[in-house]
Amino acid sequence: MMVDGCGRFASVPQSYLDASLSIDGMLSHWKYFGVTKMDRRKFLLASAATLVVGRAHGQMNHGAMDQSMPDMKGMMGGNKGKPISLPEGAPLREPAKLINTSSEPGKFVAKIIAAPAKVQLAKGLETPILAYNGQTPGPLIELTEGDHVEISFANRIPKQDSTIHWHGLVIPSNQDGGPREPVKSGSERVYAFDIAANSAGSFWYHPHPHGKAAEQVYRGLAGALIVKSKLDPIPPEFGDTVLFMSDLRLAADGTLPPSTMIDIMNGRVGDHILVNGQKNPLLTLPSGTSRRFRLYNATSARFLRMTFGNLPVTIVGTDGGLLEAPVNGGRDIMLAPAERLEIIVTFPTTGIVKLTTLAYDHGWMGPGWPRDEGITLLSVNVTADKAYPATPLPTKLRNIAELGAPALTRRFSLSETMGMDANGMTMGFLINGKSFDMQRVDEVSQVGQVELWEINNPTDMDHPFHIHGTQFQVTETERAGVITKMPFRALKDTVNIKRGETVRLLTRQDLPGVRMYHCHILEHEDLGMMGQIDVKA
Ligand code: C2O
Ligand code: CU
Ligand code: CU
Repeated sequence: MMVDGCGRFASVPQSYLDASLSIDGMLSHWKYFGVTKMDRRKFLLASAATLVVGRAHGQMNHGAMDQSMPDMKGMMGGNKGKPISLPEGAPLREPAKLINTSSEPGKFVAKIIAAPAKVQLAKGLETPILAYNGQTPGPLIELTEGDHVEISFANRIPKQDSTIHWHGLVIPSNQDGGPREPVKSGSERVYAFDIAANSAGSFWYHPHPHGKAAEQVYRGLAGALIVKSKLDPIPPEFGDTVLFMSDLRLAADGTLPPSTMIDIMNGRVGDHILVNGQKNPLLTLPSGTSRRFRLYNATSARFLRMTFGNLPVTIVGTDGGLLEAPVNGGRDIMLAPAERLEIIVTFPTTGIVKLTTLAYDHGWMGPGWPRDEGITLLSVNVTADKAYPATPLPTKLRNIAELGAPALTRRFSLSETMGMDANGMTMGFLINGKSFDMQRVDEVSQVGQVELWEINNPTDMDHPFHIHGTQFQVTETERAGVITKMPFRALKDTVNIKRGETVRLLTRQDLPGVRMYHCHILEHEDLGMMGQIDVKA
């Protein structure tokens, strides 16, 4: 493994180096061009050059190189050709709920099995996936503030460790399902934790095994988790509709293709964005309805900038639950990977309203930037069935306690690096110049200590930054010396650090133990953009 002044490089996990993709051919090309270690821009130029030379002139007299050309194309460019189409327009499914087998009030007991399954996504094609209790997305876990939870987890994924990480919940570190607590293939464990008072919000769960999180998520493992409030201020007439967005790429034979180099660098972006496992489902609502939606970005690497067309969106909640008061979100909302939003939308007139994507440039390495513009995620059929009584939204939703003055400031800087060594290509996504090492504690903190975290992203790609075990408050962002203050308090566990930007946030860990913080583009997390903070009791 190559080590240099700016830290260690992470080797590309073997799962990415699928046998059908000729890495050797690719590497000999780079070596031919005298490329041994380079920054990202040079890397892109070099790889583009090899493709052009190889195809246009075919003058390489090295047989292996010529043979590797089609493979390299596939590897660099991702999934080319026409994507397999999926059926659209079926009624929006409400996600099936995880069944509570306890009859004791305040207790939630259930079982989750992660195992291979086969589903039909495209007509006439069988797709082998990984499923939680046979389904993707996994069952909706609906908990209530104050619940005691015991969920037993069986890992039946052949030959791979797994975990269930309860993204966003503030629970003991040894129940958090991070990479330090792997559940071996064929074994089981129980996750037991209490849901704190006043912690209602839209959370989710997904695998977090060392180096395999991205792969297990794109193969189908992720689900929504809601903590309901005992005193929910949002009127029940607004409903509560989960829109859990995931990403899917299908090969021509219906299988999920392995990730390409482009996927590893940018995070895997599929051919379809699914909502509750469906492509462009249809929700029917009477005109005049105001609806509460919980939007989840459960994709590995899509930056979902979305609009309901002309309809204004009212934001009532973020990752960690409700805001203090509703906020006018305009006509344009944004969810980076792993973020959530609770919104209210009023549908005043009959007709079809579409939730569609807008372009957002988050920085892209190499060819194939998916502009992600104009994709319909959901259609709402607004009917004239009945006049709906207009219930007003309360002006006050709850209090979010101020965190107060920080005891210290921690600074984090994100970087990307690439190189090659005798064993092949290496690629690193780093925090403070370091690649993740389970044996290394990067930061030491104290229970209850308020800290200012300053995360700087000088790279030319956005990185959504996530901290385990806490709900933090972003205070400001800075770009080119210009500071923008957060106009309201909100609880977050993931915040997009835009390229060229610095984000400052206040955070406090209330429970002891080692916690992860990382980029939530899961490929980047797997490739090292993760650190550990040890919170001392
Ligand atoms: Cu949702 Cu450490 O992750
Ligand atoms: Cu998490
Ligand atoms: Cu990243």
